[in-house]
Amino acid sequence: MTATRIVRVVGPAVAAAMVLGGLQAGAAQEVRNPIPPSPDSLAIGRTIYAEHCAVCHGVNGRGDGPLARTMVPRPADFRVHLAEGHSDAQLFEWVSNGVPDTGMTGFADVLSDEERWHVINYILTFLPVER
Ligand code: HEC
Repeated sequence: MTATRIVRVVGPAVAAAMVLGGLQAGAAQEVRNPIPPSPDSLAIGRTIYAEHCAVCHGVNGRGDGPLARTMVPRPADFRVHLAEGHSDAQLFEWVSNGVPDTGMTGFADVLSDEERWHVINYILTFLPVER
């Protein structure tokens, strides 16, 4: 097999991989919460929040939980930070993998995908207005 022949065979495969990779990157940016904020979802989210998040973020999402005082930066006050209108994808990324260089660790190993969406539904109820 000559070099030209190899390029002809491999070229299209590489091009296809690049297109597919691009599609995947695009899809990842558009991750949407698949779970509507139903009363059931919010109830589950509330339980998860109380167990895993309130210790830092505070029962009312103000960033004033018992552990918050020791942290730099302080945990986010959800009433302020989430009001900036972060996308579902961004929130899911933070809750899954944490916020770099802060005390916020990821919960991908602790909570299932669905549980992370439930708790995201719940923390959005701290917003003063709909996003
Ligand atoms: C050990 C303390 C701690 C725990 C537990 C914790 N967080 Fe955080 N969280 C932080 C800190 C610190 C930040 C960073 C604040 C900042 O970005 O300035 C943060 C940031 C965030 C952000 C980004 C907010 C923004 O707009 O910047 C989200 C969303 C979030 N936390 C959700 C959660 C959820 C949901 C849970 C529970 C599953 C949780 N956190 C548990 C400390 C914690």
